[in-house]
Amino acid sequence: MIKPKVVVTRRWPAAVEAALAESFDVTFNRDDRALTAEELKDAVVGADAVLPTVTDRIDSRVLETSRPRTRILANFGVGFSHIDVEAARERSITVTNTPDVLSECTADLAVMLMLMVARRANLGEREVRADAWSGWRPTHLLGSKVSGKTLGIIGFGRIGREVAKRARFGFGMRVLAYNRSPIAAEALAETGAESVSSIDDLLPQVDFLSLHCPGGAENRNLIDARRLGLMKPSACLVNTARGEVVDEFALAQALWFETIAGAGLDVFCGEPKILPELRACENAVLLPHLGSATVETREAMGFRVLENLQDFFEGRPPRDRVA
Ligand code: DGY
Repeated sequence: MIKPKVVVTRRWPAAVEAALAESFDVTFNRDDRALTAEELKDAVVGADAVLPTVTDRIDSRVLETSRPRTRILANFGVGFSHIDVEAARERSITVTNTPDVLSECTADLAVMLMLMVARRANLGEREVRADAWSGWRPTHLLGSKVSGKTLGIIGFGRIGREVAKRARFGFGMRVLAYNRSPIAAEALAETGAESVSSIDDLLPQVDFLSLHCPGGAENRNLIDARRLGLMKPSACLVNTARGEVVDEFALAQALWFETIAGAGLDVFCGEPKILPELRACENAVLLPHLGSATVETREAMGFRVLENLQDFFEGRPPRDRVA
């Protein structure tokens, strides 16, 4: 039987690459360089399936070819705002993602950022490495307490709910949640969170704000200068969702002028480039998009893509179809 032709756009964990090669005729990206728009276009023309990830912008230009052979874009990742889903739909190309398997690790990292920014761990670590620590003293690098404070969550999907559980049951925090669609009573009971009816109501109440909504046009600059202005001067923002959800220049100004106390960021507009104004803020903890970066989760994400592909090519509906 002829195996479907598949292009994998980046290096994946070895165990998943080996499993993929058993079922498909796979072109791997051995040197792990991000593909250009032309290379992505060639993949769409030449392969039955393309397996992109967040670094691949699959827009209508990439898809606008008279002979797309690709019938499925099986994304490695839960977020898919880098794929023009409408353009894919118009060409009858199926799109899938990898939900569930990364929720716990992404939530762990959001909590880690909250703790790091609150306790100024980035500054302490840098001081020790620079051999600049003069020793213990009562006023050295004082941060703010996390336990018992109020956490606001925007986007109460799987990751948002995992963050809520950690905050509520791990740190005894009060958790306030905003979601575009109403939050089910069971989700509130399971996480100990309280629902808030608007973002503007939420912001003035929180000591920490963690973002877990999708990226893309619908949420671009959801947190802008006006909304940053609604936060307490002592509050910190955590973003593990997508860079475009926050107006980064407005955030840099808020951090610089200390109209908010700090930020913990794992995602950025225009990754891997970072806005210089943001990089200059000492009260920001900046990580290189590590939310799901554990061996267990990256393997689980890869195997979830494999499952979606196998379902698709064996005539079953893939479980994670988003278009
Ligand atoms: C995700 O799964 O969306 C991660 O951010 C990696 O893209």
